Amino acid sequence: MKVLVTGGAGFIGSNFVHLTLATRPDVEVTVLDKLTYAGHLASLEGVLEQVAFVEGDVADADLVDRLVADADVVVHFAAESHNDNSLDDPSPFVRTNLLGTFALLEAVRRHDVRYHHISTDEVYGDLELDDPKKFTEDTPYNPSSPYSASKAGSDLLVRAWVRSFGVRATISNCSNNYGPRQHVEKFIPRQITNVIDGVRPKLYGAGLNVRDWIHVDDHNAAVWTIIDKGVTGETYLIGADGEVNNKDVVELILELMGQERDAYDHVTDRAGHDLRYAIEAGRLRTELGWTPRYGSFRDGLAATVDWYRENEAWWRPMKEATEAKYARTQQVVTR
Ligand code: NAD
Ligand code: TYD
Repeated sequence: MKVLVTGGAGFIGSNFVHLTLATRPDVEVTVLDKLTYAGHLASLEGVLEQVAFVEGDVADADLVDRLVADADVVVHFAAESHNDNSLDDPSPFVRTNLLGTFALLEAVRRHDVRYHHISTDEVYGDLELDDPKKFTEDTPYNPSSPYSASKAGSDLLVRAWVRSFGVRATISNCSNNYGPRQHVEKFIPRQITNVIDGVRPKLYGAGLNVRDWIHVDDHNAAVWTIIDKGVTGETYLIGADGEVNNKDVVELILELMGQERDAYDHVTDRAGHDLRYAIEAGRLRTELGWTPRYGSFRDGLAATVDWYRENEAWWRPMKEATEAKYARTQQVVTR
């Protein structure tokens, strides 16, 4: 099976490539990645010689057409992925997330290639902190940020190409991922690397916002389950019942790293900050038989802390610029 992985030098995509090569000897992988600030060939260290790597843009229709023509399956991870960046400059989000998906859909339509679209639970907007409900496949779309709006738009393109043109596509909407090789702009790696640097973790607002954490390997195993057994045209939510508020995450990181649990700062809150995400993944579990392997968030987080401690050469080059960017907009707030 020939699989074209877009965004394979990013966080989730590179972990997908590692998992695939370790578990699927029958799969040939081609990676298409623009190597933006978020893409790193170092994330493919150890497997680069086993993949065909193409540096290029998912919105480049001619390039995408050539690569898709030679694939059996496309798994589309490439995206601009960070909410804070989308508030600063939405334009690459609209371009990559919408036009990139459009180029891929046109190519898989022309060549009748199976397509799996990677998306986020953020397309559903947010839930109240005390709401017993979780997101399901039937929750109406209600995105809050330029990032989530661009992802929602790309999902809707996929649904339209399925209905209008019979494209063989599935969509998955996953909750927040953690694990190795995540950019230090994101919440968990930012705090781990701050602590390594002797800097206090930075919590937006009061820190009561809830995210539903899943290990990146559990996400990627679910993606393979959907490619293998999913019904084309369908959407599957991916989540592992991992709801934790941000304050508890920061306190756990500090504890795991041998610091006082209250040694963090509150900083300026994010504009339009979604309160809570929570996934009901019953369909994936009952219809397709997927279950997460990482039972304990604490253990998964401890392993992630170890990874950042052992792989400073991977993250060090991006740390200073990331913090300099944050320093322009975020001030410590006394509460
Ligand atoms: P990331 O920012 O770490 O990686 C994105 C990758 O896409 C990078 O390698 C980058 O170079 C590449 N890329 C960006 N623009 C491109 C373009 N125009 N052409 C080709 N390549 C381009 O992102 P991630 O966290 O790995 O997210 C991957 C996917 O998973 C995204 O679609 C995101 O919406 C989705 N997702 C992420 C999470 C999460 O918690 N990180 C949760 C659910 C869904
Ligand atoms: P993030 O990793 O950006 O993911 P998302 O916005 O997709 O959920 O942020 C996760 C949560 O952590 C979110 O509620 C914002 C918060 N956050 C902080 O409190 N401090 C930080 O330094 C960052 C980057 C995020």
